[in-house]
Amino acid sequence: MESNLSNQAIILEDGKPVLKDIEDTPLSEGEIRVRVEASPINPSDQAWVAGFYGIKELIPKGPLGAGFEGSGVVTEAHESVGADIVGKTVAFFEDCHNQGFQGLWRKYINKKASDVIQFPEHVKPDEAFAVFVNPLTAVYMINIAKKNGHKALIHGAASSALGKMLVRYAKNIDFPVINIVRRQEQVDSLKELGAEHILDSSSDTFDDDLAELSKELGATAYFDPIAGAFCGRVLSKMPAKSTAHVYGALSGEAVSLNPIDIIFYQKSVTYLYLLTWFQEASKEEQDEVFGEVIKDLSTGGNIFGTKIYKTFSLDKVVEACGEAAKTASLGKVIINPQL
Ligand SMILES: NC(=O)c1ccc[n+]([C@@H]2O[C@H](COP(=O)([O-])OP(=O)(O)OC[C@H]3O[C@@H](n4cnc5c(N)ncnc54)[C@H](OP(=O)(O)O)[C@@H]3O)[C@@H](O)[C@H]2O)c1
Repeated sequence: MESNLSNQAIILEDGKPVLKDIEDTPLSEGEIRVRVEASPINPSDQAWVAGFYGIKELIPKGPLGAGFEGSGVVTEAHESVGADIVGKTVAFFEDCHNQGFQGLWRKYINKKASDVIQFPEHVKPDEAFAVFVNPLTAVYMINIAKKNGHKALIHGAASSALGKMLVRYAKNIDFPVINIVRRQEQVDSLKELGAEHILDSSSDTFDDDLAELSKELGATAYFDPIAGAFCGRVLSKMPAKSTAHVYGALSGEAVSLNPIDIIFYQKSVTYLYLLTWFQEASKEEQDEVFGEVIKDLSTGGNIFGTKIYKTFSLDKVVEACGEAAKTASLGKVIINPQL
C-alpha cells in the first residue's frame, strides 16, 4: 500500500490539457487504487483533446480529464475486494460519455475491481496497455464480416496499430483481407507481418488492382477509418451490393459517394462503433472475445500486442499528441504518468 499519495491528472481547461495537482478520494466498496503506468494516445484521444470526439449531449458537464484506456499496478484495495489483487497488473477503460468520467492520464485512479482486466503476474503494464480499443475492434470486424456472409474484407489505413493486429488475427484464422496503405514503406512493413494482399493507394494502378482483387476474393465489406472522398473511391471499385463500415475519421472529411453506386449497384455505408458492441453483445460473446485477447496478451501478444514507439510523461501530453499524429505507422506513442 502506498500512502500519502500526491496525485496529478490532466484536466481540460478551456479545451487545453493542463497538468493539475488533485486530491485523492478514499476507496469505496468494491474499489481498488491503481498506479497508472501506460496509456496509448489513440486517434480517439487526439480527437478528444482537440475537442471533437464523442456525443456532445452525453458528455458530462464540469472539469474533464483525458485518456481512454491503459494499464497499471494495483496499489491498494478496499477491504470488500480483498488484498489478493494488490500488486497485479490490470488494464482498464474510461468512457467519456459516462458520468464520473475521470480520464486516466493521471498518476493514480480509483476503479471498481469488477471493471478492470487482471493479468497474470509476469505481464507488465507496458504489455497490457492497449486491451480494449483496437484488439476488440479487430475481432469485431472479422465477426461482422463473417456474420454478414462476406468472403473477404478490405481495410483502410492498414498500417495502423489496429491494421497490424488485423493482419495477424486474420492470417491466424485464415480470413482474406485486402490491406490498403498509402506509402511503399507501409507495404513493406505489412509484408513483414505476413500480409498477403496489400495495395498502395499512391500507385497508378491502385483503382484497377482494387477492382480486380475485390472481385477475385469476393471482398464486399470495406472497414474504413479514413472517411472523406476515399470511402466513395474504394466502394466504387468493389462488387455490387458492397458495404463500407465507417469507423474512423482520419481524413477529417465527410464521406462522399457516387449516387450511381448507391442506386444502381446498391452499395451502402454503415458504421462500426465498438461501444455499441459492448452494449449489445451477450456476456458469453464478450467473455469469448476478451478471453481470446487476454490469452494472447498474456503469452507474448503475437496477435494483439502493440509496439511502443515513444513514451512521454504527463507534463508532455501536448507534445506527445503531436508526435503520435506524425509517427502512428511506427508504433504507439504512450503516456507513462509515473515518469
Ligand atoms: N469506431 C470504433 O469503435 C473504433 C475503434 C477502434 C479504433 N477506431 C479507429 O481506428 C483507426 C485506427 O486506430 P489506430 O489506433 O490503429 O491508429 P494509429 O495506430 O494511430 O494509426 C493511424 C494510421 O492511419 C494512417 N493515416 C492517418 N491519416 C490518414 C489518411 N488521411 N489517409 C490514410 N491513412 C491515414 C497513418 O498513416 P501515416 O503514417 O501515413 O499517417 C497510420 O498508419 C482510427 O481512426 C481510430 O479512431 C475506431
